[in-house]
Amino acid sequence: MSNRTRSIVRSARVVGLKLLMPSVLFLCAFASLITSANAQDKAEQPQFKNLQVLKDVPPDQLIPAMQFISASLGVECEFCHVRDAFDKDDKQSKGTARRMIQMTLALDTNQFQGERAVTCYTCHRGSAKPVSIPMVESTAAYVSEARSATDSVAQGRSNLPSPDEVVQKYIQAIGGSAAVQNVSSRLESGTVTFGDGPGFPVEIFSKSPFRQAMIVHLPAGDSTTVFDSRNGWSKSPAGLVRDMLRADLEAAKLDADIQFSINLKTTFQELNVIRAEKINEHEAILLFATSSSGPPLELYFDRQTGLLLRQLRFGSSPLGLNPTQIDYSNYKTFDGVQVPLHRVIRRPNRTLDIRLSHVTQNVPVDDAMFARP
Ligand code: HEC
Ligand code: HEC
Repeated sequence: MSNRTRSIVRSARVVGLKLLMPSVLFLCAFASLITSANAQDKAEQPQFKNLQVLKDVPPDQLIPAMQFISASLGVECEFCHVRDAFDKDDKQSKGTARRMIQMTLALDTNQFQGERAVTCYTCHRGSAKPVSIPMVESTAAYVSEARSATDSVAQGRSNLPSPDEVVQKYIQAIGGSAAVQNVSSRLESGTVTFGDGPGFPVEIFSKSPFRQAMIVHLPAGDSTTVFDSRNGWSKSPAGLVRDMLRADLEAAKLDADIQFSINLKTTFQELNVIRAEKINEHEAILLFATSSSGPPLELYFDRQTGLLLRQLRFGSSPLGLNPTQIDYSNYKTFDGVQVPLHRVIRRPNRTLDIRLSHVTQNVPVDDAMFARP
């Protein structure tokens, strides 16, 4: 086994276990990292040994595809895999999954012009056994998968603001573009919890342009996640360094952007107002942002205050999109700029809750902080 494969398998195993560490790795969902490969052998391609139906998938997209499968079926990796031996075919469910992948890819190729219209989730909906009887109560689908996003439901609805108005109101609500521009660095500290687990001290260092380091102080040592404006990685308490998956870099860049509000219109090529919707008692406006480079972003703004309540984004995988939802609340003003002190980050099966208590801005942040170990 090459080092690269070993490190992928090692990180994959960590994700599969319901111990503390996988949750901590999930923290990287903040910078959107769960599993990735060892840095030392970056140039080397991972050597998967037993790919039959996904052999044409670019190597760094295999793990995102596996995350997508796990989330769609609501299972852990070990539902299909023998621990430490991902190439083995010992489990029947892996064979079934292979046939399912073929079936799904064939459906999309032959019936839907190659679009990822039918995915594992289409039938499985978070369960290993799909249901075949319609449910009485249904839950609304993401806008991003309804192709209706482009034939804009909102068009011609006079009671909804224009995308420009939504963005302007957001910038004003945050503190105005001059105040936002004035912040070049931010240091935040507080507590983070993973699911129902205990809280740990966390520090987040952000620095323009697009750099962020998040440090969680665990009993075993520090867990660090860094994005340096182009690349990202994480370091475990044991000193193991892993690169961020390519599928997660765009999201990490959004998180690292202190000037997100004023950059919104240049980051995304197209902004559409889709509808008004209730989010936790707040009337919200859904703004749908699309860019040429990455998957779309759904932004929910408080209609009254103009502030961002929720962000929904999607990491690409060959089999479908992996969703991340971030809820922002408890906004407080620092140097004329509003900062959300409570952030809840949710991915299928995993939740990360960050409560910040201290925020200081425009303090010197050493560039070494963002240098790869
Ligand atoms: C529902 C079943 C299923 C689940 C759950 C699943 N996988 Fe897989 N995995 C497969 C199948 C099927 C293949 C083989 C694909 C092929 O033949 O091209 C595979 C292949 C792999 C490989 C390549 C192994 C090799 O060397 O050939 C790795 C690594 C892997 N999976 C990791 C993971 C990880 C990590 C998770 C959890 C996040 C996971 N898988 C969850 C079905 C699954
Ligand atoms: C068109 C609908 C459909 C799609 C799409 C689909 N499945 Fe399935 N899948 C089913 C049905 C129906 C069953 C249950 C068969 C049974 O009950 O015996 C099933 C069963 C399975 C099982 C066996 C579960 C068990 O309990 O052993 C696995 C594993 C599986 N699917 C994986 C996948 C994966 C991975 C994908 C995406 C690549 C996928 N499926 C896409 C309909 C689908």
